[in-house]
Amino acid sequence: MADTSYMARKSIADIVDSADVEGGHLLSKTLGATSITAMGIGAIIGAGIFVLTGTAAAQFAGPGIVLSFILGGIACGFVGLCYAELAAMLPVCGSSYTYTYATLGEVFAWIIGWDLILEYAMGAATVAVGWSGYIVSLLHNVGINIPPALAAASGVLVKLPDGTSVTGVVNLPAVVIIAILTTMLVLGTKESARLNNVMVAIKLSVVVAFIAIGAFFMHPANWHPFIPANTGEFGSFGMSGILRGSAVVFFAFIGFDAVSTAAQEARKPQRDMPIGILGSLVICTTLYILVAGVLTGLVPYAQLNVPDPIAKGVDAIGVTWFSILIKIGALTGLTTVILVLLYGQSRIFFTMSQDGLLPHLFARVHPRLLTPHRSQMMIGTIVAIVAAFTPINVLGEMVSIGTLFAFVLVCGAVIYLRRSDSDASRPFRAPGVPIVPILGILFCLLLMVGLPLITWIRLVVWLVIGMIIYMSYGRTHSKLRFPERH
Ligand code: ALA
Repeated sequence: MADTSYMARKSIADIVDSADVEGGHLLSKTLGATSITAMGIGAIIGAGIFVLTGTAAAQFAGPGIVLSFILGGIACGFVGLCYAELAAMLPVCGSSYTYTYATLGEVFAWIIGWDLILEYAMGAATVAVGWSGYIVSLLHNVGINIPPALAAASGVLVKLPDGTSVTGVVNLPAVVIIAILTTMLVLGTKESARLNNVMVAIKLSVVVAFIAIGAFFMHPANWHPFIPANTGEFGSFGMSGILRGSAVVFFAFIGFDAVSTAAQEARKPQRDMPIGILGSLVICTTLYILVAGVLTGLVPYAQLNVPDPIAKGVDAIGVTWFSILIKIGALTGLTTVILVLLYGQSRIFFTMSQDGLLPHLFARVHPRLLTPHRSQMMIGTIVAIVAAFTPINVLGEMVSIGTLFAFVLVCGAVIYLRRSDSDASRPFRAPGVPIVPILGILFCLLLMVGLPLITWIRLVVWLVIGMIIYMSYGRTHSKLRFPERH
């Protein structure tokens, strides 16, 4: 007899079995620890470091943005350990959505699935806006000028080099990149994965080159004061500014959790998942701290509130070809992140649809292309519309709060499962449970506190809309609760 309560849980054994049956013959187990780490880096380094670092330094933290990155890295470290335990224990695609289904039950799983739209779809929109900033700047270098009003969301004030400003109308380059990547994803994922590896290598080289070359051109004076005095408003410099800076650049860390979606394709998930998740996190955190330090050493922080702050840092060095190279590197880097996020979103919808919580359309796969084409196109269309008309800071903060919320539940799931399913096989055990997950929860809540009230209100509104949709669809279509209806 099925459990028809809203708190119905999926059993760990069922999830693991279904992964073997459904995933076993569809997905080949070919990924080793190195490819998984590379995949993580591909998903992680993007608009956070290439765009938001500048905004956050200029508006909230000054050079203290370095400390913001350290704080964000610590929070993600605790959460990463929890993800590693769950990814090795439940090697299936649905990521935190699936983990929650096994712990807190269906309603919470739905809330997380709905919340993950903020991380993946809205995340893709945010990075696309960052991509737009860099392409406009690169095209300008080669003499092509995109009208500024057509490369910024409506209402955004764009400063022109001559000191005047215009108001944005629509962000067309962001729409174009989403359309191209959606088309690629519809046509097939194998090619996308290969291209992804090349692009990850380019992006890493560019970031390392920026640090290595930039370090020789820094002006120590730009680091004084390292933590500018608070202006009297919470979050505007001083200690609270570092906190708000962390909450904003937390965006830069998002993606290490996307690695867990590859668990079914890992050769030895129990060993490779923890290495991939924690390895990519450590590498990226180190690079971020160094980039933030070099950038604020190159350019006075107040001048960094631009769509392409790293390029601005390179301009300060004064080597034009390097500036162009950096922009190309940033563009490829941002492209990989958008690709992974758009792909991840369709995978999560796929899993939710198979569970009956979303219409069947999202689990339908094209017979020849073997991709969820309709779902991918719908996602692309909505993401493109959002990116066209929303400013990057609003988007980025929504993504951060949504992801932090999901992370809190994942840490909670580790504690819960250790009690409810103490006998389940745990190929990787997070150390220091429950202290580590509790610290993860506390750090995430701390970063959430750093976000403005309006972002909290937007999160609540988003979750309420989600609940209405669950009540009117998923509640009565759930496969777990009403197997006989399927
Ligand atoms: N971490 C990813 C980025 O910064 C989402 O673009």
